[in-house]
Amino acid sequence: MRLQGKTALITGAARGIGLEFARAYIAEGASVAIADINLAASQTAAANLGPQAHAITLDVTRQDSIDAAFADAIARLGHLDILINNAALFTAAPIVEISRADYDKLMAVNVAGTLFCTQAAARHMIPRGRGTIINMASQAGRRGEGLVAVYCATKAAVISLTQSAGLDLIRHGINVNAIAPGVVDGEHWDGVDAFFAKYEGKAPGQKKREVGAAVPFGRMGNAADLTGMAIFLASDEAKYIVAQCFGVDGGNWMA
Ligand SMILES: NC(=O)c1ccc[n+]([C@@H]2O[C@H](COP(=O)([O-])OP(=O)(O)OC[C@H]3O[C@@H](n4cnc5c(N)ncnc54)[C@H](O)[C@@H]3O)[C@@H](O)[C@H]2O)c1
Repeated sequence: MRLQGKTALITGAARGIGLEFARAYIAEGASVAIADINLAASQTAAANLGPQAHAITLDVTRQDSIDAAFADAIARLGHLDILINNAALFTAAPIVEISRADYDKLMAVNVAGTLFCTQAAARHMIPRGRGTIINMASQAGRRGEGLVAVYCATKAAVISLTQSAGLDLIRHGINVNAIAPGVVDGEHWDGVDAFFAKYEGKAPGQKKREVGAAVPFGRMGNAADLTGMAIFLASDEAKYIVAQCFGVDGGNWMA
């Protein structure tokens, strides 16, 4: 029960990694706002997770939605100890085919969403003199990938925002750090696999098998592989950790 009595808002928590984080936080004693653009899925998730889970509607690209979601979450939870900036979109295309619409959409969700949810949380946490913010980066933010320029750029920006926000907010007792997963199986990677089927002529499922076999650990990750780091970073044991990005990727990347 390392998060006993703590409260968290997790963006994009209706499925995938965010949902697994919500489950793990609740198991450690926290109450969690499951904040997602898909309210129906958030409500189903919250119903399955029990009374410590609260479904909140949130579109991280809209300031009015961020303001309302944080006010709603704080009203329901009493206060906010932890924010996980987890919502993100993925796209892939060769450089010559990238559309401005895709670029704008990914920047709005992955980068601006992270920044302005951080701002909303920080405005609440600063007067309390404490808080934890965890950003979901990616191994994709550590280096470019031929077909994945836009997503890689957004995740590099998330690592940079983690560093700047971490340095600005630690004087208020707010720890900002990031987790960089490698390849994590789930609905997100079903979409990634489909992009590689399209652009590299692979059979469905082939890219997943290839990236899994290439992980030094020997397989793709799953969402549960990441929960230990998410719990640790939100616990009091991590108080001296500031502005860092931790790979949890089976050995894919060495910082
Ligand atoms: N799955 C992987 O292999 C992997 C690897 C590295 C990093 N990551 C990162 O981990 C995080 C979670 O990934 P995942 O695999 O669970 O993704 P996912 O696609 O399964 O889930 C993303 C969630 O974000 C929500 N969302 C999308 N747009 C939103 C918006 N505008 N406002 C609010 N919510 C919105 C979606 O409804 C969905 O529930 C992401 O930041 C992702 O980039 C994932």
